[in-house]
Amino acid sequence: MTDRPLRLGVLGAANIARNFIAGVAPSTRVAVAAVASRDPAKAEAFARETGVPRFHGSYEALLADPEIDAVYVPLPNSLHAEWAIRAVEHGKPVLCEKPLALNAAEAQAMFSAARRHGVALVEAFPYLAQVQTAKLRELIAAGAIGKVRTIQSAFGITSADPANIRLSPVLGGGALLDAGSYATSLIRIVAGARPSRVHATARFAGNGVDLTTVATLEFASGLLAQMSCSFETGYHRHALITGTGGVIETNFLNHPPRSGPAVLQVKRGIAFDAAFEPLEVPAGNGFLREAESFADMLAHGPDRWTGASEAESIDIMATLDAIATSARSGQWVELADDAPSLRA
Ligand SMILES: NC(=O)c1ccc[n+]([C@@H]2O[C@H](COP(=O)([O-])OP(=O)(O)OC[C@H]3O[C@@H](n4cnc5c(N)ncnc54)[C@H](OP(=O)(O)O)[C@@H]3O)[C@@H](O)[C@H]2O)c1
Repeated sequence: MTDRPLRLGVLGAANIARNFIAGVAPSTRVAVAAVASRDPAKAEAFARETGVPRFHGSYEALLADPEIDAVYVPLPNSLHAEWAIRAVEHGKPVLCEKPLALNAAEAQAMFSAARRHGVALVEAFPYLAQVQTAKLRELIAAGAIGKVRTIQSAFGITSADPANIRLSPVLGGGALLDAGSYATSLIRIVAGARPSRVHATARFAGNGVDLTTVATLEFASGLLAQMSCSFETGYHRHALITGTGGVIETNFLNHPPRSGPAVLQVKRGIAFDAAFEPLEVPAGNGFLREAESFADMLAHGPDRWTGASEAESIDIMATLDAIATSARSGQWVELADDAPSLRA
């Protein structure tokens, strides 16, 4: 343990890396120390643009850099497993963008590799680092709305540029892995378990990626949930959580809202005219909070990580696998109950 900030390396001159680097810039605990691109000229230009002091002309060179303590992976989804595993093989802990992988088998392989090499690997969902989410977890655990009965979780954007990685079948595109991983993660966080079975339907693009997917999730506890995600809508992101004693509404925000404070709406009681109580919570840049939580975890232990646990990440991937299978077959898909999270 040192007082020096965590020296983070970034793989790929990704759009999200630009926002991540800007978000983390004010930190005294994390410093983005180098960026890497497959193209050395692009790496240099990206480093100059983002104010990062050093750059590498290949991902491999960044992983071999002894002055990098840990790695942030904002690559296309199809490359998360490969490069996260290569990073842990170099002894570098990994903060990997969501979705953690293309499927649960890849996610398991990533965690196994991290364990084998004795370093941490976690999935990046900035909203999990927000006070708003901590408050949501606290309210659910305290029974503020009684026993949770239903969750509706939705995230949609417009993504129509055919050159965007989100629409590429080869790079792990599709609304489900992109926006759906967020909506499904919120359900997993609130439910505290993976579903026992799911049923889904989707609209697919000509190249096979899903453009809009909706799913019904059943849980062993009796809880029922609905997930919807899309690349064909105006931006929307919200969840409605209902319980035997009340209701919570959240936009599970990644970053502070552009207008007004971050608000969690809580209705306590079951009366038709019970009012929503707006719970205002502080919000900061999600990348900054997430990166500092990652640094604290590496310095002080796993309890300092506010993001998804290994069990949560694997359950999210297993649920996405089941939803994708159901959307293609039209059949209910059962999730095995010998899942790692249930064994843990
Ligand atoms: N947490 C969030 O809020 C959030 C938001 C947006 C995206 N994301 C996630 O972040 C990841 C990146 O998304 P993005 O929109 O930032 O992607 P992007 O702008 O397309 O960047 C992806 C980067 O990957 C590298 N790359 C390596 N092989 C590639 C290939 N075959 N094709 C294209 N790029 C390749 C490229 O870097 P070089 O050319 O420099 O090597 C490229 O700049 C995705 O996993 C996405 O789900 C998360």
